Amino acid sequence: MDNYLKIIQKHKQEFNIAPEQFFFVPGRINLIGEHIDYVGGTVLPMQTKMGIYAGASRAHIDSLLFNFNYDELCSIEAISSYNGSKNWQDYSSAVFNYYQSRYAANTKIHLTIYSDLPIGAGLSSSAAYIILLSKAIIQFNELQIDAKEIADNAILIENNYLGVKCGIMDAYAIALSSPHQLLKLNCLTKQIELIPLNLGKYQLVIINTKKPRTLATTAYNERVSACQAIENTLNKSWQYITIEDVVYSTLTDDLKKKAMHILTENSRVKLALTALDDADFETLGKLLYASHSSLQFNYEVSCNELDFVVNHLKNSASCMGARMMGAGFGGCCIALLATSAFQEISQDLTTVYFKMFQVHLDFYSV
Ligand code: GLA
Repeated sequence: MDNYLKIIQKHKQEFNIAPEQFFFVPGRINLIGEHIDYVGGTVLPMQTKMGIYAGASRAHIDSLLFNFNYDELCSIEAISSYNGSKNWQDYSSAVFNYYQSRYAANTKIHLTIYSDLPIGAGLSSSAAYIILLSKAIIQFNELQIDAKEIADNAILIENNYLGVKCGIMDAYAIALSSPHQLLKLNCLTKQIELIPLNLGKYQLVIINTKKPRTLATTAYNERVSACQAIENTLNKSWQYITIEDVVYSTLTDDLKKKAMHILTENSRVKLALTALDDADFETLGKLLYASHSSLQFNYEVSCNELDFVVNHLKNSASCMGARMMGAGFGGCCIALLATSAFQEISQDLTTVYFKMFQVHLDFYSV
């Protein structure tokens, strides 16, 4: 059934009224530029076709949210404090509290929510969810808040209320990108540029390993702290740190490896932009593979499942490049494939992956 129809039916059933407003917020992928948004690097995300849908109506007494994906109803007023597990209800409460305290917003709304964006798969379902709720609150209160402010608010909510020290990539990609275009986002200046994505006979494919990203938040925050420690030791901000600074420093071997990822990934983004300009997909593919190796060996945010997919794709001449995508520790890979070879590659990969991990891969086209 159509997502909106499903929402209308359920909303009427739960709240005895049809939704007055509808919202859709996409997720994001990232072509290249991983784990460099929080050090002011440039990244190349893009929005997904999949996303989170909501129907909303004004309420009078309380704020009730029905979530299809969990088949759960939650009352915002009943959530008194976060239980530490950061489930969808905590996220909801964080957004509602933020808009109440910062904008004195009236948050008496009933919402019915459905996501066809896989949750916790590295496609930014959390930033998308925060932005979806923000848009509903903004709309019902007729607040004058532009897309940048919505994105900045979403980042503050994740950083301060939810304890994820994420950078700006996800929220900016979701709030400021447009379909079929890459968002060139300078995370230092927050300047953006939309770049049409023309891949000729190739296509980008997202491969969901379905490996849950357990411990991802802790490990993610550790990487952010490591980057701050590198800046402190070298007494320079990332913008000015060079490979020589790192090599001849007193940094531990572990921090040197982390720093090498940041510096080389920044260069790979620049080279990828040139390759895209020149329609040089062979070079672009090589950069994706190189990014993966750096994330696997230097930054250490990959896992067996992601490595398996990327290594297997390396055997196929029709795959130009692939890498893990997003925070890592599970989730998705992104691959650049010849469109004509998609069927064959996906079938073959599905078979070998199932033999290895007893899990069926999912593929999403971009
Ligand atoms: C997560 C974070 C982003 C970014 C990526 C890694 O998605 O939310 O800010 O750091 O990981 O590139």
